[in-house]
Amino acid sequence: MADLLPNMELFPMSSRVNDKEHLEVGGCDVVDLVESYGTPLYIYDEFTLRNMCSQFKNSFTSRYKNTEVLYASKAFINKAIAQIVSDEGLGLDVVSGGELFVAIDAGVDVEKIYFHGNNKSPDELEFAVRNKIGTIVVDNFYELTKLDEIAHGQGVMQDILIRLSPGIDPHTHEKTTTGILDSKFGFSIETGDALRAIKLSDSLSNLSLEGVHFHLGSPIFELEPYELGIKTVLSFTSANNIELNVFSPGGGFAIGYVQDGLPPSVDSYAEIITETLISTCSNLGIKPPKLVIEPGRSIIGRSGVAVYTVGAIKDIPSIRKYVSVDGGMGDNVRPAMYDARYSAVVANRMADDPEEIVSLAGKYCESGDILIKDINLPILETGDIIAIPASGAYSPSMASSYNLNPRPPMVIVSEGNDRLIRRREEYQDYLIFDSIK
Ligand SMILES: Cc1ncc(COP(=O)(O)O)c(C=O)c1O
Repeated sequence: MADLLPNMELFPMSSRVNDKEHLEVGGCDVVDLVESYGTPLYIYDEFTLRNMCSQFKNSFTSRYKNTEVLYASKAFINKAIAQIVSDEGLGLDVVSGGELFVAIDAGVDVEKIYFHGNNKSPDELEFAVRNKIGTIVVDNFYELTKLDEIAHGQGVMQDILIRLSPGIDPHTHEKTTTGILDSKFGFSIETGDALRAIKLSDSLSNLSLEGVHFHLGSPIFELEPYELGIKTVLSFTSANNIELNVFSPGGGFAIGYVQDGLPPSVDSYAEIITETLISTCSNLGIKPPKLVIEPGRSIIGRSGVAVYTVGAIKDIPSIRKYVSVDGGMGDNVRPAMYDARYSAVVANRMADDPEEIVSLAGKYCESGDILIKDINLPILETGDIIAIPASGAYSPSMASSYNLNPRPPMVIVSEGNDRLIRRREEYQDYLIFDSIK
């Protein structure tokens, strides 16, 4: 029956169609999971998550031994996920005090945590230094002097990387491009800020500059931007006699959301990055530094499936048929925010052929709340279960309780077992934060 699953490479690796013609993930029938947990529901396949961690580790370390792989936790973090990626030997990249707090609480080795962000508050920096976070990736002059002051106050020598903005366009959505000149992130090489920041950091008594970082954007479907980025940054450091113990070209590795947009393999990314690093270091006469990469989406995206139930159906003849589901932009803002494309299947009728083009709409009070604008699916009925693959990254982490719709629960599935890793939000939760005089 496995051949009944279209777009296999978009779904978790353990997915198949079972004898009931239902979608199955991690040995669990999605229809049964819906009966247990309701919808909307996010299902994570543990096998895929662990497999992606080891793919990244193996692909990179087999080519460049001195590589550290960090999971970019902004893609999605909670305690269960932090523990799985740590168990797989990955470090963690965090971008806020909140992500850091969860990582620490989950027992992640603080030495393997890198703290990013373009406007870390003094409180966040103080929290990080107090908890002996391995590396802080400094993004701007304000942070550089503030962090030195905090480290000095705590009598700590803090390891840092400087985030550079290399002025390279990775050809992704403008809202997810970070490495170009016109970006809020990092010290620009072009304007001279990068060199000024490195010189300043050398003069600060409680910061130890270990190397440089850049992140071009996400998702990056091309390999050339990495090559260009690495050459540009290493040429800059070499020309200015900046010694590097650590070199981090960030994350941004793409995943497949739709069949006509499949990404390069992990091996291809590993090959271009390590090959460029090795050859550029050799050409410039630089000692090869430790390589730190930060995949987020590509670690967790494919393991996640979003599941919804069809409710209202509105047909506007010759115009459009809107099929509304019980989630939407509150649990996945990516289509509304980035025009992100997705595909979908009918999880309770996997053998049925696609028959009509519809738009899958969310239930939020916004016209822009459309999950998939045009998709060819079997004739849908109220009660059908829709599964959207490649939903593990950024959708749950960007989820909101807009319209006070409860955020969905998350379950991890593995070898026929399911485990709740986050409960559904309840109406009562909305009262917890409010106070009335
Ligand atoms: C500094 C940094 N590293 C890593 C990532 C992870 O990117 P991705 O999830 O595309 O791998 C991001 C995301 O934007 C980032 O800003």
